[in-house]
Amino acid sequence: MEFVTLENRNGIKLKLTNYGGIVSELHVPDRSGAFADVTLGFETLEEYESQDFPYFGALVGRFANRIAGGRFALDGVVYDQLALNDGENHLHGGKRGFDRVVWDMERVSGDGYSGVVLRYLSVDGEEGYPGNLRTTVTYKLTDRDEWVIDYEASTDKPTIFNPTNHAYFNLAGHDSGSVMGHEMQIAAKGFTPTDAAGIPTGEIMALEGTGLDFRQPKPLGRDIESDDPFIDIVGGYDHNFALREAPGELALAAVVYEPESGREMKVYTTEPGMQLYTANFLQGALAGKGGYRYQRRDAFCLETQHYPDSPNHPQFPSTVLRPGHTFRSQTVYAFSAR
Ligand code: BGC
Repeated sequence: MEFVTLENRNGIKLKLTNYGGIVSELHVPDRSGAFADVTLGFETLEEYESQDFPYFGALVGRFANRIAGGRFALDGVVYDQLALNDGENHLHGGKRGFDRVVWDMERVSGDGYSGVVLRYLSVDGEEGYPGNLRTTVTYKLTDRDEWVIDYEASTDKPTIFNPTNHAYFNLAGHDSGSVMGHEMQIAAKGFTPTDAAGIPTGEIMALEGTGLDFRQPKPLGRDIESDDPFIDIVGGYDHNFALREAPGELALAAVVYEPESGREMKVYTTEPGMQLYTANFLQGALAGKGGYRYQRRDAFCLETQHYPDSPNHPQFPSTVLRPGHTFRSQTVYAFSAR
């Protein structure tokens, strides 16, 4: 296991480790050119390995988000049981998911970028999932100030797959407190309402009139404490936005702007969904880089993915991966300042 630091021609630095594919630092400039580390994390491998932490910067898989009861049927076979690690449900790949394994890592570089290729073979039955699944994740830092993530996978048995990266961002700096002043815009068509455990009801609801309507930019904090029942039920933002009905071409999914520093982050993805999570469960228990204790709402996550619990909702875009097919997905986090 090791750390690698990528740097682009504008001085942006992205530090990562092949443990969990974790991005532990990301230094980007503000409007005056001053750099800050905008992602939550720890300094040492030992801290990542020895602590229970909520996926800071990590790759998440095989299936990001929740699968009700850790159970699903595929081609008439019932897969019972995926690891249960979120009450009665399966979350983010289980007890030892992509975030807790050591990936093979190779440095790559090309015209206008440097990066790493991470590879992991998840064996048939791992965390309850069928099929030997070979996953390749490429991280690139480009001279256009983008962090590009490419996912590819193949399997030898029909299975389900839905990876993401779970970076926690704070565009004012990882140690600067609440993100409630960040302005968020999300190009969504609707959202998938859930029960209190975060399991979708199966509906895709309109955003209009809810606190989840970010089609025009608004501060994250504006409606978070309102009595909106969809926000209330999960204690903040922890929602999947339906960006489109099926995976497609790379498209703009979100723009986040931090007014004091002027830093802006745009998220592009080929995925049909994206989870906005406002770190509702952080509570000062974890001391991050520089000893700073991460508190509730000190960060936001924009986890590009398919919809939660898709295997149990045939009307959602499919997460089935079959032998002979290659899964491909791309997400880009692009940084600027104004
Ligand atoms: C989920 C949250 C969960 C967090 C950390 C997010 O993707 O939506 O409910 O608490 O990850 O595990």
